[in-house]
Amino acid sequence: MGINQCRFRWFNAVVLIGMVGVAVTVTGSDSHVKQEQLVSRIAFGSCSNQSAPQPIWDAVVDFHPQIFIWLGDNIYGDLKRPFKIFGKERTIGPWKNVPRFVPSSQQVIGTWDDHDYGLNDAGKEFHGKVTNQKLLLDFLDEPQDSPRRKQAGVYASYTYGPVGRDIKIILLDTRYHRDPVGSDGTILGNSQWLWLEKELKGLPTALTIIGSSIQVISNLSATIHPLFAMESWARFPKERDRLFKLIDDSKRTGVFFISGDVHFGEITRYDCALDYPLYDVTSSGVTQSIEEVVPPFLRSFVRFVAWLTPSTMRVKGQNCRYKSCIYGQPNFGTIEIDWDSHPVKLKFKVKDKNGVVVTGVDVSLTELQPNSDREKAGQNNQKHCTLEVSLPWIVRYRLMILFCFTLFVLLLVFLGLVYTCFRICRLGGCKRKHD
Ligand SMILES: *[C@@H]1O[C@H](CO)[C@@H](O)[C@H](O)[C@H]1NC(C)=O
Ligand SMILES: *[C@@H]1O[C@H](CO)[C@@H](O)[C@H](O)[C@H]1NC(C)=O
Repeated sequence: MGINQCRFRWFNAVVLIGMVGVAVTVTGSDSHVKQEQLVSRIAFGSCSNQSAPQPIWDAVVDFHPQIFIWLGDNIYGDLKRPFKIFGKERTIGPWKNVPRFVPSSQQVIGTWDDHDYGLNDAGKEFHGKVTNQKLLLDFLDEPQDSPRRKQAGVYASYTYGPVGRDIKIILLDTRYHRDPVGSDGTILGNSQWLWLEKELKGLPTALTIIGSSIQVISNLSATIHPLFAMESWARFPKERDRLFKLIDDSKRTGVFFISGDVHFGEITRYDCALDYPLYDVTSSGVTQSIEEVVPPFLRSFVRFVAWLTPSTMRVKGQNCRYKSCIYGQPNFGTIEIDWDSHPVKLKFKVKDKNGVVVTGVDVSLTELQPNSDREKAGQNNQKHCTLEVSLPWIVRYRLMILFCFTLFVLLLVFLGLVYTCFRICRLGGCKRKHD
């Protein structure tokens, strides 16, 4: 598929969205002021290499999103460059003007993750954060007089839709104030926590989407440790509990998360944090998906490893018995809301570059409220309650055990070969002596 065509279509979409955006009143308050437009289609994505082809935008455009949300790693700015120079390149370089990145309306919103923040896995210690905050906000076409340009960090909130059919979108900054991984310190920092509390305890909305660059529900680190490690809210258990408690205290209903970062798509849910299930819809890999970044012959291996890695929170479809139910190729996420059905229906989906659904779940809005008819409907709402760290060790460390076992077998084979060679050589040597 021609990149030019893809750029053109994305550009068209942006212009279209822009026109819709202009037709709507936009002012600025707590973060961004309410827009009256009824929103029923939202798309989101993350991990997008600006130098690689991005054919997925055709499918995004075909979905006709009213809002597109960038969840971080919107570009890879830190690649093999000193950070100061990288900062400059991002402003004056060609990337900003590539049509597929033109966020020319209020309806393309977003936050950052480490690679557009400026350094892999970085947190509050990163010295380029002030400059790069400006660069991200330029990338998102944030108005020059926006309060978001004056605060420390890029967190923001938006409200769309008429009362009763309104959606609040809260975008967190998981970088600017974050303590080192392993410290069990803070992710959001004091000022952002105070802001978040105000946002959550403020006017109720039918739905509240919390966008976090890193996953909130899944704790992949618990099951791939010590071979690999991932960043996630679960690596900051106190901070994660605080988040759940805040949502609980706020009595807000209809809250769910969207996230990116991990280079695959996945839907997870945790049923024991609040009195309703908390979903986390992860889409990661507009270009940078796990199967794309490994050589083709390793793709089946990646799938096998994904299938082997246990997960207690993943929402699995019926066809996932012999599959992991994560999607490791380029993908984007979608949220569709049918406001006219009773009760209101939500569809969470992860789609591939052709727009085909690779994992998804339908949820009714009443399921995201306490005292719902869940039990009456016979649904088991206690299904996703076991933390990954509470799995029996033989399950939790399955991957590690297989890895060690494979190493052991390889070692045995190697020793066997050495021994055989040795025997053959000795026999050969003996023979020669006899000759
Ligand atoms: C992005 O794509 C370019 C061109 O395909 C490639 O050279 C570069 O290594 C990629 N960057 C990352 C972070 O994978
Ligand atoms: C997630 O896993 C990590 C690593 O094993 C562990 O330290 C942490 O406590 C876990 N978090 C939760 C919320 O279970």
